[in-house]
Amino acid sequence: MAIRTLLRIGHPFLLTPAKLVTRFDTSQLHDLVQDLFDTMEAHQGVGLAAPQIGVGLRVFVFGIKAHPKYPQIEEIPFTVLINPVLEPLDKEVDETWEGCLSIPEMHGIVPRYTHLRYSAYDIHRVPIAKREVSGFHARVVQHECDHLDGILYPHRIRDLRFFGYSDELFPDKGKTR
Ligand code: NI
Repeated sequence: MAIRTLLRIGHPFLLTPAKLVTRFDTSQLHDLVQDLFDTMEAHQGVGLAAPQIGVGLRVFVFGIKAHPKYPQIEEIPFTVLINPVLEPLDKEVDETWEGCLSIPEMHGIVPRYTHLRYSAYDIHRVPIAKREVSGFHARVVQHECDHLDGILYPHRIRDLRFFGYSDELFPDKGKTR
């Protein structure tokens, strides 16, 4: 399909809550999902939400393959979530570095729930079995769900000293991911 233009922080559409998907299995929805995967892959992202390409629907994709260069990053199966609902499993919160394709070349330390359960629909309106996840997987899902509510990760940073350009923050490593 197509690699779409990414909206970047500052664009007001990224602050606009997205609407529930009501029509499933349409050619438009299939095209949207393919474009999200194509655009995410082109930018080597781990997740991408529809509002980031200017579509105000509650849809996002995510996933990452195991990479020999980054053994600390766990594999996440490539997944589409439509109208997702998140439910933290406890109050435990974990703070670590996060990036976003709408905020290129930057990273910040963001608090996220460690343990999470989520439900959603797939493209055919089949409910996805509730999944309990933790760590990086849980973080990615929370980050992408935030995009559907018009929230970007800098809004959640508690200490802005831990926010900046990746190559300044990690001069020896480059990007953390
Ligand atoms: Ni993002």
